[in-house]
Amino acid sequence: MTASTITDRQPDPLDTEYVLGLVDTALDAIAAAKTSAQLKQVRIDHAGEKSPLALANRAIGTLQPGQRKHAGQLVGQARGRVNQALAARQAEVDAAELEATLLAERVDVTLPVDLHPVGALHPVTALLNDMSDVFISMGWEVVEGPELESEWLNFDALNMPEVHPARGLTDTLFVDPPSDRKLLRTQTSPVQMRTLLSRDVPIYMVSPGKVFRADEYDATHLPMFHQIEGLAVDKGIHLGHLKGTLDHLAKAMFGDVRTRLRPHYFPFTEPSAEMDLECFVCHGESVGNPDRPCRTCKSEGWIEWGGCGVVNPRVLKAAGIDTNVYSGFAFGMGVDRTVMFRNNAPDLRDFVEGDVRFPRSLRGGAR
Ligand code: DAH
Repeated sequence: MTASTITDRQPDPLDTEYVLGLVDTALDAIAAAKTSAQLKQVRIDHAGEKSPLALANRAIGTLQPGQRKHAGQLVGQARGRVNQALAARQAEVDAAELEATLLAERVDVTLPVDLHPVGALHPVTALLNDMSDVFISMGWEVVEGPELESEWLNFDALNMPEVHPARGLTDTLFVDPPSDRKLLRTQTSPVQMRTLLSRDVPIYMVSPGKVFRADEYDATHLPMFHQIEGLAVDKGIHLGHLKGTLDHLAKAMFGDVRTRLRPHYFPFTEPSAEMDLECFVCHGESVGNPDRPCRTCKSEGWIEWGGCGVVNPRVLKAAGIDTNVYSGFAFGMGVDRTVMFRNNAPDLRDFVEGDVRFPRSLRGGAR
């Protein structure tokens, strides 16, 4: 017999020694598998459908019935041992891999957290929300109006005659085509008229929002800024209600301070007033007191806050409201300016340039 015939000779798949040899080889391979991927391959090689043990199992069918019992036991036990070893090793490998994952993904919950700064509302938005909240808590409604407004609602309906200086092209940004008489609203006051026209009295509403004017862009002016408008219309409303409401707002926003009304002119209110806020920093103590100057009110004791008055009956009549029964008060104030003096912000340009250091630098910080 030549060497080649020995190697070429097919082993008898049901030879006892051969089958036991297959088991030993399989057990060695199982013990050597370190990962579930390796063990998967070992399972295919030694217990899979094409493994020598499976072939041996299939060979049983070719035997004479009398010979099958012994062969069946031999192969059955062999396969049982291999499968048991596979299951045991699988459990070990799984446990080891789980352990490794837990170690690798370990989180020390006692470590200080890396706090990523989260976004914050713009200081103007935050203040608008705060001011609106004061009114919501009194049962007032918050109403919004469009920024692109008709000339009629922005001016005419508010008793602003055509000759009023605010209607000159220098202040107002009209929108093409001129024949549409559309403009970027110069004030939130047109929302008063929109509300009067669309709702029944009594009305208690505030309207925060953006307004636009053809102003310079400098430390104290922006072509786009924010106002909050207020309107109350009910039976028997008078100036005292306006004063009480403004004092309440001032206290809610700035602590124990008062407001002051100075006679003024607005076409849509009569009488009209400018309202001042008692300085919430020095409470007037800096006035005539050079030893204690106040930067917030420039030692004047009062800060200009906005305009207000008793609603001109012509405005109510334009909305079809019976002025013998109903009267109202209205007010409007600049919100960017309020943030400025409330938080000691020196330059209005910082409000729109988007540098996050700005809100962080404000007194009281970003909110
Ligand atoms: N709209 C005025 C302005 O932009 C402010 C104002 C004054 C609003 C008096 C009012 C008001 O509602 O009654 O200067």
